[in-house]
Amino acid sequence: MRFTVAIDGPAAAGKGTISRAVAERFGFAHLDTGALYRAVGVKGGDPVEAARALCPADLARDDLRTGEAGQAASKVAAIPEVRAALVQFQRAFARREGGAVLDGRDIGTVICPDAEVKLFVTASAEVRAHRRWLELGGDERAVLADVRERDARDMGRADAPLRPAEDALVLDTSEMSIDAAVAAACDLIEARL
Ligand code: C5P
Repeated sequence: MRFTVAIDGPAAAGKGTISRAVAERFGFAHLDTGALYRAVGVKGGDPVEAARALCPADLARDDLRTGEAGQAASKVAAIPEVRAALVQFQRAFARREGGAVLDGRDIGTVICPDAEVKLFVTASAEVRAHRRWLELGGDERAVLADVRERDARDMGRADAPLRPAEDALVLDTSEMSIDAAVAAACDLIEARL
């Protein structure tokens, strides 16, 4: 059985939590595509070469979740050759036997335009910054500035900008609990399986 769930949205909207819950519930494999860009961003050197040579050890680094890695990721993610180098791996993952959930920025629009289920998970910048701050600590205003800067870069780039696919279900988790968002996602998948 091949079945692809595409989950896109801005930083700290709840994509990762929803993706992991959905993958567990349906027994699908999960790929956090942001980790690919983070790994390229923290590797240093020529980002295009880093993307072409990406290997499992790069994805196992402990420093991928930091704010700096997120910023570095969004810079290299604006380079078309970096994105191109990562397309094939993501598409092969999406069509693997047994079902797959991919979360990122361009899964429903570019990587898997034919995904069986597309979700766009979002929330206000303030709510997302608060969540990131609870997770990482530091100065909350600096985290908000960081979130806004990354949003602007991800939405403003020419290649694969962050935006909902036309046929995506939009879930705004500003007011909605993550449990309710997971339930909505599971209902939609059930209906299409
Ligand atoms: O989701 P995460 O915060 O880990 O993503 C880090 C950065 O990687 C994003 O800000 C974005 O610039 C980039 N990214 C992307 N396309 C994806 C996933 C992540 O451009 N599919």
